[in-house]
Amino acid sequence: MAKILIADDHQGMRDMIVEMLLGLDHEATGVTDGLEARQALAAGDYDLLVTDLRMPGLDGMALLRSLRDEGSGVGVIVMTAHGSVESAVEAMSLGALDFAQKPFPLSAIEAKVKKALERLSMTRTNQLLRDEINQRFGSLIGGSPSMQRVFELIAKVSETTTPVLVLGESGTGKELVARELHRRSPRADGPFITVNCAALAEGLLESELFGHERGAFTGAVQSKKGKFELAHEGTLFLDEVGEIPLATQVKLLRFLQEKEMERVGGNRLIKVDVRVVCATNRNVKELIADGRFREDLFYRINVITVEMPPLRERREDIPLLVEALLRRHAANTGLQGTVADDAMNLFQIYEWPGNVRELENVLERALVLADAGASGHRRISGKDLPAEIQGGEGAPAAQREYMEASGLSDQIERIEREIIRKALVEAQWNQTKAAKALHLKRSSLQYKMKKYELQRPEEE
Ligand SMILES: Nc1ncnc2c1ncn2[C@@H]1O[C@H](COP(=O)(O)OP(=O)(O)OP(=O)(O)O)[C@@H](O)[C@H]1O
Ligand SMILES: [Mg+2]
Repeated sequence: MAKILIADDHQGMRDMIVEMLLGLDHEATGVTDGLEARQALAAGDYDLLVTDLRMPGLDGMALLRSLRDEGSGVGVIVMTAHGSVESAVEAMSLGALDFAQKPFPLSAIEAKVKKALERLSMTRTNQLLRDEINQRFGSLIGGSPSMQRVFELIAKVSETTTPVLVLGESGTGKELVARELHRRSPRADGPFITVNCAALAEGLLESELFGHERGAFTGAVQSKKGKFELAHEGTLFLDEVGEIPLATQVKLLRFLQEKEMERVGGNRLIKVDVRVVCATNRNVKELIADGRFREDLFYRINVITVEMPPLRERREDIPLLVEALLRRHAANTGLQGTVADDAMNLFQIYEWPGNVRELENVLERALVLADAGASGHRRISGKDLPAEIQGGEGAPAAQREYMEASGLSDQIERIEREIIRKALVEAQWNQTKAAKALHLKRSSLQYKMKKYELQRPEEE
């Protein structure tokens, strides 16, 4: 069932097509010229327009042109006078899907409408799929403008060997960015090596990074390659780079300038081809001011900066992340779950100091506590969340206020469920159609269907 507009100044023709389409269970409306058609199209969301070319006022070609200029998504079939192939060609070049030359049997229009609707539903499905994919960049998830900018930047610089500094609070995905930079680079087949610069004592870090020769220090019974050599033709990820001791910073700076290094206790210069990605959750400018980080090194590692936004500044990504993290968790553990509205609302007002990692942990813990339904499916509600999120004593005022008003949210939840159920029934459980009627993305509709446990009833 589609919504179709027929524009033709010839009443007999118009009525015949409208009736034929109504008979096929479509919603069909007739108008008499291009201006009326444009108004109708602007007011209602039509799937398809079947229009005559020669009409008083705004003719079919001008109508097509204005639809194209507006970027309208409506599909168009034009009806042309017999023998006017040129106007058919022109109409197609303006974006019409098909044309029918008069006179035609009604069955011809019927077939063309059917074909056009199939094509439209295919492009729409593709568009929806594309929308979903765009919110995902490798293992990184985010539809918010700030994350989209991060994705664009990664895509741009992954081709190069330019050093990248990833900044951001704990748990914002800095390591994922480093991995994604590697995965999309021409060196993706090479090694990706991580060094946590905070985890090792001063002397150890230096030999970990640059390796050592036999006898370089007590206990160095054999020579050993460092991470730089191991990362040859790959990417070296220096995590918590702000913690590198000053002496090691000098060696790192030299490597970045010369692309050469020496093992500890050695004097042989070794050339390695390594792309360096650094990350820190520290304020590097402060470290520089305190004399704990070399300014010249900072400029070397910070040619490109990727700043990871904290989760509380991109709350619109929370439902998306919840869905993805639950799916990932289910794949690993078999524990299936959804998040009820009261819990989702609390997620929306919580501060998330530990960002995505904290969200991941909260979900994992709540899944264990949540009640299992008959299907074994677990539904996480507010009571399964830690006290700081539930809005107890220590919670921010906004959160407590919300909790007091939460009788309201139950009601809203019930109403929303009913609206969605009705739309699905009306669309005969065709999710694409229902999503369109509700002005929802199909992925959001699916999320809500899962949340409200809405399923197409079993066929008898
Ligand atoms: N945008 C995202 N999409 C999906 N998962 C994410 C995203 N950001 C972070 N995560 C997940 O959150 C966890 C923390 O990410 P990651 O280790 O990359 O953070 P980090 O910034 O390096 O944190 P830290 O500073 O504490 O080391 C990981 O399990 C990661 O998979
Ligand atoms: Mg990390």
